Amino acid sequence: MGPPCWRRVAVPPKRDSCAEELVQDEVAHACLGLDRAHTGCVIAHPLVAVSVLVGVSDPRVLEAVGSVPRAAFVPPELAGQANLDRPLPIPHGQVTTQPSLVAWMLEALELEGSERVLEIGGGYGWQTALLGRLAAEVWSVERWDDLAEAARTHLARQGATNVEVVVGDGSGGLPGHAPYDAILVAAACPHVPSPLVAQLAEGGRLVQPIGSGGDEDVVLFVKRGGTLHHLSTVAEARFVPLIGRHGLER
Ligand SMILES: C[S@@+](CC[C@H](N)C(=O)[O-])C[C@H]1O[C@@H](n2cnc3c(N)ncnc32)[C@H](O)[C@@H]1O
Repeated sequence: MGPPCWRRVAVPPKRDSCAEELVQDEVAHACLGLDRAHTGCVIAHPLVAVSVLVGVSDPRVLEAVGSVPRAAFVPPELAGQANLDRPLPIPHGQVTTQPSLVAWMLEALELEGSERVLEIGGGYGWQTALLGRLAAEVWSVERWDDLAEAARTHLARQGATNVEVVVGDGSGGLPGHAPYDAILVAAACPHVPSPLVAQLAEGGRLVQPIGSGGDEDVVLFVKRGGTLHHLSTVAEARFVPLIGRHGLER
């Protein structure tokens, strides 16, 4: 059997807490015009289905989305909503990012499995766990210590051994383990913090919501000749702000 014949679909306008309802497997197949026998084992998971619907096609990303139970990374009382394509609230007014948006950002990094990755804004750890399946080594920085502790617990329960969660101001990166082959920033800032540029390896990719929090373009950059170059806009989205010394003021 050849590679999956995913058909790209139009990118929906904004990703936010008013996102679309759960897209069922049947709908996914119908909309995509895909043969169930061809895709059944992959598309059966609702979050995989919705990721395919928004245009994600990297089989490794889809496998990761389908393999890491989001229910184990949200507050227990919201576990029943974990397979909806919606951000879900976590403490301190934060949210776990909408799954299809996570899938887009992960696909943009084009990880092959050998990379060292830095994540800024780990929250409750679902995206961190996905990164752990896609790369060799993941360093995740979260500014709230109770969120970081919850993420560590969730990741340990899922048997993730190649991820480390660090409490701190991720706008300064994590210089002790640089350079990173890829950086994923999960909070908004009008510019890419200069320490992150410095800590990204030459040729490395960085994804970040560019804006002040609430109305962003999620932008993919590559580092060439020591500077960042804009490659593409991955999505339009609404993110919480990146609060920190090299980010936004409290
Ligand atoms: C949209 S949430 C994403 C959570 C996580 N990636 C997920 O999908 O579950 C953004 C996270 O960034 C964190 N954050 C904001 N500013 C930060 C900073 N300077 N350093 C580290 N984390 C930060 C917030 O506390 C929050 O947990």
